[in-house]
Amino acid sequence: MCGIVGYTGSREASGVLLDGLRKLEYRGYDSSGMAVLLDGVIELRRSVGKLSRLFDEVAKRPVSGKTGIGHTRWATHGRPTEENAHPHMEGGVAVVHNGIIENYLALKEELIREGARFKSETDTEILSHLIYREIRNGARLEEAVREAVRNVKGAFAIAAISEHEPGMIVGVRVECPLIVGIGEGEMMLASDIPAILDVTRSAIFLKDGEMVTLTRDGVKLQTLRGERFHREPRHIDWSPIMAEKGGYRHFMRKEIAEQPRAITDTCRGLLLEEEGDVFLNGFDVPLIDVERVYLTACGTSWHAALAGKYIFEELFRIPTEVDLASEFRYRNPLIDKKCLVIALSQSGETADTLAAVKEVKRRGASTIAVCNVIESSLTREADWSFMTHAGPEIGVASTKAFTSQLVALYLLAVYFGRRTEKITRETGMGLIQELLKLPKKIDKVFEEEGRIEAIARKYFHSRDFIYLGRGVNFPIALEGALKLKEISYIHAEGYAAGEMKHGPIALIDEDMPVVALAPLDASYPKMLGNMEEVKARGGRLIAVINEGDSEAAARVDDVIRVPVSTPFLTPVLLSVPLQLLAYHIAVNKGTDIDQPRNLAKSVTVE
Ligand code: G6P
Repeated sequence: MCGIVGYTGSREASGVLLDGLRKLEYRGYDSSGMAVLLDGVIELRRSVGKLSRLFDEVAKRPVSGKTGIGHTRWATHGRPTEENAHPHMEGGVAVVHNGIIENYLALKEELIREGARFKSETDTEILSHLIYREIRNGARLEEAVREAVRNVKGAFAIAAISEHEPGMIVGVRVECPLIVGIGEGEMMLASDIPAILDVTRSAIFLKDGEMVTLTRDGVKLQTLRGERFHREPRHIDWSPIMAEKGGYRHFMRKEIAEQPRAITDTCRGLLLEEEGDVFLNGFDVPLIDVERVYLTACGTSWHAALAGKYIFEELFRIPTEVDLASEFRYRNPLIDKKCLVIALSQSGETADTLAAVKEVKRRGASTIAVCNVIESSLTREADWSFMTHAGPEIGVASTKAFTSQLVALYLLAVYFGRRTEKITRETGMGLIQELLKLPKKIDKVFEEEGRIEAIARKYFHSRDFIYLGRGVNFPIALEGALKLKEISYIHAEGYAAGEMKHGPIALIDEDMPVVALAPLDASYPKMLGNMEEVKARGGRLIAVINEGDSEAAARVDDVIRVPVSTPFLTPVLLSVPLQLLAYHIAVNKGTDIDQPRNLAKSVTVE
């Protein structure tokens, strides 16, 4: 996930672009850059690290001109270096890009055969080459962009300027956001509303497959097939703070909403529907020698690892152990080269997780990182990396990174299961189909939000909560309880439902809300039994159940419904209402949701 911005008008572009980028920094912050056009010459400024570095660079080497494009990067292909920072330039054309180009390797080879020289490791650079190829053959910028994009597969929003057509910006949207800001004698283009608010509050929202040509006096809208159309601009009445959070009050709520997109992006280019398989480039793990898998992590990532054990043992049929990284490294584990260790971390910088990976490597194990931050310390340490593409997670309580990790583990289990013939093609096809349906099913869970808000209002005064789950959903009960503790400061415990009678049942009375996860799976009858036990002791029951289940609904105080899925993806669907419940309870309590007391997003101390 990156942020792009463009400006053409009567002001100095560099100032407008920097202000716009500052508002988009939440979309990525490992490098940034801008290209400004003056008297038919484009000047580039790029720097690695936080946006403040680009501010310093532009202050040191000012750049003048009234048309330009800018970018703040969240690396997906290629490390965060200056060469990989956007804009990318070729033959007087500069391009910025947000998204992923799936067929870039094939296009790159084709361009190299034609004599192109690449300066970066990015997928984006093929765009500047493709556009320039068309311009060299006599095309105008608009035409060149349209032709270039025709060759490209994936999800992207781009903006391009050319030395040959001063004052013009061409933008395209395919599955990544792009909006057009309409000013008086000045126009803007951006990934998100906050970036344009200093210039205008009038905006046109592009849809997929649409392109726009901006000059200071007007915009021309057309489809990628070249059909012109008209769309009235909309007035934006957001305050700048609201706008940065996409209209949400908190980053956490915004990130909860982003989960369908995060999962789609994590799967992008990996699903082989026909073969019932997963495509992982260069994942040549020596599976023949692997006798045992260890999953290790901290915090919420550890909960994903716990669910991963169930998924791996069932689909990959291999003994799988889970360890807290902070315990693992100190307990002299029986690790050798027959072990595959998978470390999960949103940030890739958690000190204990990193130390655990270093230790198991020393003992000869193969290591895989499941991580959300490219080029983080963990991805550099591990032998292989599987990147989740959740995008930057700002809220301290992890949400979209967690469900993306669950999906990553599912993908790895299918991949390994297929390689070792534990999963047939037919079964694989079913598993992939279920995954393809998942984002839409999450959208359906959001329809329950009103009901969840009412439950939150009813229970936010409670001092304690118990969360119960079984099997692969037991870790989701732990995660639900952790979310509540983290942001609402209410004491909450997650339990394996079968364990309830060995202790926690003593706590149950009419002041104790119990959240029971009871989807229609193999443990459903047992969960019903556990719920009866709670009711019999006067406990207040909130159940998360499947759509169409009236039996469980009849026995509880409150229900939240989620769609039916395979048991291995149901944890994702159950996680979403628990995130929303914790969130709305915290809203009622008025806590600092995005930055809860005493917590840090990334724990880099041991
Ligand atoms: C901190 C964060 C948690 C996170 C944990 C592990 O405690 O507050 O949200 O789950 O670190 O972080 P990682 O980046 O390794 O997933």
